[in-house]
Amino acid sequence: MDDVDAVLTIYGDQEATGHLSFEPRTRDQVSQIVARSIASATAEPRSEYALAVIERDTNTLIGYGRLAMDPHQQRAATFGFGLRQEAWGVGYGLETVRLLLGLGFEDLGLHRIWGARSPLNEASAKTMTAAGMVQEGIIRAHIQKAGRWRDSVVHSMLDDEWKPSV
Ligand SMILES: CC(C)(COP(=O)(O)OP(=O)(O)OC[C@H]1O[C@@H](n2cnc3c(N)ncnc32)[C@H](O)[C@@H]1OP(=O)(O)O)[C@@H](O)C(=O)NCCC(=O)NCCS
Repeated sequence: MDDVDAVLTIYGDQEATGHLSFEPRTRDQVSQIVARSIASATAEPRSEYALAVIERDTNTLIGYGRLAMDPHQQRAATFGFGLRQEAWGVGYGLETVRLLLGLGFEDLGLHRIWGARSPLNEASAKTMTAAGMVQEGIIRAHIQKAGRWRDSVVHSMLDDEWKPSV
């Protein structure tokens, strides 16, 4: 629970959440999210990996990565990621995506991992593409935000496309 304020710098930030599916969260909402993340870590079977991104040099939480099993598909998961603004632009986004893909394919034996982004989220598009993911299509009117439906662009990777050493 000590991570709540650091997570709030992302989930509570207008710019960091600008392309995400939700409005900036309050501190209470972030507390509940962190509590649920802790609980999900010990669930059996585990269906969610809600993880902190820690900068090694400073030992501070600078972001989150989340892998959630698709309940109705075999060996598939959706993922999400985000960093606090101060940590943008130095390669941590790409490193985070690659760590999540490695967790999914190498440790969990998944077959397919996918992420959905806003059509205007160029940083996310470039980050997933740089990690080797393929842009595969559009989910129409997927997300409702600020009273309007918004499409999502889907990027994915299959297990035989994962290259651990690249
Ligand atoms: C998406 C996000 C994690 C990227 O993190 P980052 O650490 O800044 O990205 P990196 O430095 O690893 O760069 C990865 C690629 O994205 C590109 N990129 C990063 N920010 C960009 C921007 N604002 N506009 C265009 N391209 C951008 C980089 O140039 C790089 O591409 P390249 O390898 O072709 O040069 C970060 O912008 C973020 O947290 N955004 C808010 C949350 C979010 O949108 N999450 C994704 C939800 S789908």
